[in-house]
Amino acid sequence: MKSYNVAVIPGDGTGPEVIREGIKVLNAISSRFSIAFNFHQYDFGGTRYLRTGEILPDGAVDELRKFDAIYLGAIGHPDVKPGTLEKGILLRLRFELDQYINLRPVKLYPGADCPLKNKKPEDIDFIVVRENTEGLYAGAGGVLKKGTPDEVAVQESINTRKGVERCIRFAFEYCRKRNKAKKLTLCGKTNVLTFAFDLWERAFYEVAKEYPDIKVDYAHVDATTMWFVKNPEWFDVIVTDNMFGDIITDLGAMIQGGMGIAAGGNINPEGVSMFEPIGGSAPKYTGQNVVNPLAAICAGGMMLEQLGEQKPAELLEKAVIEVTGKYLKSLAAGKMGYGTTDVGDLVAKFVTELSLD
Ligand code: IPM
Ligand code: MN
Repeated sequence: MKSYNVAVIPGDGTGPEVIREGIKVLNAISSRFSIAFNFHQYDFGGTRYLRTGEILPDGAVDELRKFDAIYLGAIGHPDVKPGTLEKGILLRLRFELDQYINLRPVKLYPGADCPLKNKKPEDIDFIVVRENTEGLYAGAGGVLKKGTPDEVAVQESINTRKGVERCIRFAFEYCRKRNKAKKLTLCGKTNVLTFAFDLWERAFYEVAKEYPDIKVDYAHVDATTMWFVKNPEWFDVIVTDNMFGDIITDLGAMIQGGMGIAAGGNINPEGVSMFEPIGGSAPKYTGQNVVNPLAAICAGGMMLEQLGEQKPAELLEKAVIEVTGKYLKSLAAGKMGYGTTDVGDLVAKFVTELSLD
């Protein structure tokens, strides 16, 4: 029997509630297939920080490196200064574990309400490959004369040929493996960011020569947001930098039915990857059993896929579709018609009962 060691960081706010349901579903998967999960819990997050003053203990990153995967709830606490936990935990893990891809599927499931008029599940099914270790997130820059009328703030976007090329290469490989429209769109801003996106564009078309089976396309980031709303069916796989990827995937989450369903994976193809619902800690709903755990459950599905457990990942998705299609009134917190734990129970039940083909 295959067994996986998974580090679990439930985190802040509603993170623990949704991760609990994700684990429930993964345990149902493990009873159905011959795989086992050993979950190891870590209490990193705002609550621990407020109690101990420590963001990540020494050695934590190296300890996490030894796991097969990391399952993360949410990081962010209303009593902690914005940026502290984001930089000190989430971004630090992405960077130090070299999770250079942030993979974010945008898929409208049956039953999910889409704010776009006349768009159906067959129209919204694409995936964003966001570069996850460079760009504006690298932290390059500085400030001079802070607090004076002459203050200068510089925040630079770092784009290395190596970092950009490995991300683009991943996107081509992913597009080929996904085997749908086989179309890869580079999302950039070549008309203004003439240094950074010149590098991206050259790398993109050079790597494209190795993938004659993939159609290539380019869209400026501003136009991309327009097409997301107007013609989402044009997209199959999109590759973009860290900042643009951050922005367009929030829009992506909205057109697939909201944060309640949006999952993501921080991938290091050669190391340990980390899976998370992308919606944040939603502190105002904490402890009320009203948030939607499907994003966390779907993040668990992405984890299965990354571990090479294709069949279990497919079954998990099928179970989620059963629940969105036939049970939930809405995907929004407090409006599902079911509690957080009920939704986890339903998905786990279908994981146990649905046929495998
Ligand atoms: C995300 C989040 C993070 C980001 C924040 C919390 C640092 O918005 O995962 O998209 O900007 O990457
Ligand atoms: Mn974001």
